[in-house]
Formats: sequence, structure tokens, C-alpha cells
Amino acid sequence: MVDNRSSLPKKMSMNFGKIYAGQKPAFVSRASGRVELIGGHTDYNEGFVIAAAIDSSACVAAAKRNDNIICLYSEWARQKHEFELPAFAGTSLPLRKQGPAPEPSQDCQWANYGRGVAAYLCREGLDVKGANLYIASDVPVGAGLSSSAALEVSLAKAMIHLSKPDWQIQPKRLAQICQKAENVYAKSPCGILDQITAVTATKDHVILLDCRDVSVRLLPFDSNACSIMIFNSMVKHEIGGGEYGKRRRQCEEACAVIAEKYPQVRALRDADQAMLDSVKNQLDNVQFLRAGHVIGENARVLAAAEALKQNDIEKLGRLMNESHCSARDLYQISCEQTDFLAEQIWQSDGAYGARLCGGGFGGSVVALVQPDAAAKISKNVRKAYKDRFDLDCDVYLAKPWQGTEIIEPA
Ligand code: GLA
Repeated sequence: MVDNRSSLPKKMSMNFGKIYAGQKPAFVSRASGRVELIGGHTDYNEGFVIAAAIDSSACVAAAKRNDNIICLYSEWARQKHEFELPAFAGTSLPLRKQGPAPEPSQDCQWANYGRGVAAYLCREGLDVKGANLYIASDVPVGAGLSSSAALEVSLAKAMIHLSKPDWQIQPKRLAQICQKAENVYAKSPCGILDQITAVTATKDHVILLDCRDVSVRLLPFDSNACSIMIFNSMVKHEIGGGEYGKRRRQCEEACAVIAEKYPQVRALRDADQAMLDSVKNQLDNVQFLRAGHVIGENARVLAAAEALKQNDIEKLGRLMNESHCSARDLYQISCEQTDFLAEQIWQSDGAYGARLCGGGFGGSVVALVQPDAAAKISKNVRKAYKDRFDLDCDVYLAKPWQGTEIIEPA
């Protein structure tokens, strides 16, 4: 089992000087990947999610420059990329007079997270300063654990801390800026779940997120009583790939039909199964299934929050299993590998429940298990997975972690 407690910041501080002519970073900013325990594809339907930040992170080591340039280095891409900041960002000049914000790059996709975050921070009124930034991450890419949001939030935090550490910005606003960077610069139509989790989550808690007003309630989570395990199918998930956007549109279409009959319905979050049934003959079968998933999933999240408060982990586990079946049958975002993983876990002694997490089409399965059963479950499931697909599935024991922090040099 991979135990992640990141040692990245220390390593990065050492490597920074090799890339930036002996310069030392002023600090390292860190932001976590996330796992949602329940609430799949509810965020862009203004619904509910229970999620946690995990102890895998994207980190950005940062130092000031004396010019108007942001230089990014990605350890993963082994590449440097520079762009210029608007000359008068953060001044009271109208935006059009401040100078052009960095545009998305056509040939360096990874750098677009940095370009987008910088552009929207400038628009928000921050005088973003020139910086040398060194990026490294141990959030697996394409595993449904939100490696992109971890990167955006960590970059944003680094730019803010370097430019104006006492700058006041609401957590919700910061999450929206990072989401916008991903939507527009990385062309990925994600919701707000990943970014708000990284910005607001705290150690030993899960968050109950209401995606209508983007408000967050912290719920204590005792990892000694119950372990969160993540099984990475190693089948790559990609939310810019088309199917995610298609699901969003199908939800909007179904919602529009329901809203014609029930004007109080602004998003699928406001609908219930009876409303959906009453317009069934005006929807195609796919729209009906998609809306059915979202309506059922929102109800399950609220029931799960109650179960957590009552410490009823068995019930929470059953709700997770139902969530997986709904993602598989109604939302149709699972695949053979993630179905297999979930089924293997359901059959294991000491497992409370398991479901596909993140965007789907591969990625990871999250499970809740009794702590003393974790090692055996990991071993058995890995073996069964290898036998069936000839693939090694990475297994993480995840503790709810602080979503983001600035680490000053020791
Ligand atoms: C991806 C998106 C999120 C959310 C999840 C599914 O992770 O980035 O906004 O929609 O899928 O719940």
C-alpha cells in the first residue's frame, strides 16, 4: 500500500536551485488532491457532496523575480515555461488599460493552469508579482483524485503569498478563480467540487458541500475508527474528453423540461423523483436516467451526512454501494475495471462500502473499511485485479488532510 505523507516540499527546495541558478525558494505552497465519499456529479447540478482533502499534494516552491515574468518549471514535464504579466495588474486602472492578461498557450498545456490562475488573480485586483515557480506533485494524474485542482490551488496560493500575503480573498472566490482557470485555460468543464475541497478542507474532517451557495460544513472523521482506502484502477480518466460535458448537457436538458412544469426547479437539486416521473414521456431515456442519478445521489448525500453524524458507518457504506450502482447503471460512467474493484471490495470482510469516485470512465474506487482489515483487503483486491486484467492497481490509505498550506523553510 502506498502511504503518502508527502516529503515533496523538502526535495523541491533542494532542486529549486538547480533550475533557478542557485536561488532559494522563499516557501513552498501545497494543495491536496481530493476524494469524494459520496456525491458523484452533483456539484454542477447545484447539489451536495461529502469530500475530503487527501495527503497527496501538488506543491509549488516559489521565489520572487525583479521583472514582470512568471517562470514555471514542471518536474513532471521537465520543462520551463515563461509568460508576462499585465504591466499594471492590481492598479485602479480599468482592466483594458492594465495590459493584456496571459492568453492560454497552444503548445504547452500544463502551463495553462499557471497562465489561467495568474490571469484571473490579476482580474480580481491582485498585483501579481514576477516569480520563479517550481511545480511537483504526487497526486496521480487521471486517477479521479483531482490533480488539476490541486495544482491550480497550489499555484494560486503561491502567487498570492509571494505578491501580497495579507491579501483578503474569500475561500469560495478563490475556488471559483481556480475553477475558471481550469474551465477556460485547460478547457475542462469541471464543477467547483475539487477546488473548494482543496481550499477549505481540514485535517481529520470531511466536508459537506452545498454547491448552490458553495458553503461548506466540516464533519469530524475519525480515521482510527474507519479507514478511507483508494484503489486506482490505472485506467486513465480525462474530464476534458467529451463524456463529462455530455453528462452536464443531458442534466441541463432534463432540468429544463422539469422546470417548465415546476418553475421552482432551478437546477436538478430542486427536483425529486415524482417530478421526474411526471415528465418522463417528454424526456428521452438517457436524459431520464441521468436526472434519476442526480436526484437519487443528492438524497443519498444528505442521508450519508446524517449517518456520519450518528456514527453509523455501516449505513454510510451501504449508501456508497448504492451510489456506485447508480453511477454504473443510470449515469453510465463506470467501466469494467472500476466495477470489478467495487465488487471485490463489497465481498471483502471488514469493508463497509465502495464506490467509483471523481469524474468516472476509469480513475479510482474509494472504500471505507475497518482499519485492521485494510492490509488484507488491499492484498486480496490487488491480486484479484492483477489476475483479471493483468494490471497493478495502486492502493492508498488516505487520511483527511489540511487542504492547503504555506510551508516556510525550516
Ligand atoms: C470531476 C470534476 C468535479 C466533479 C466530479 C464528479 O472531478 O472536476 O467538478 O464534477 O468530477 O463529481
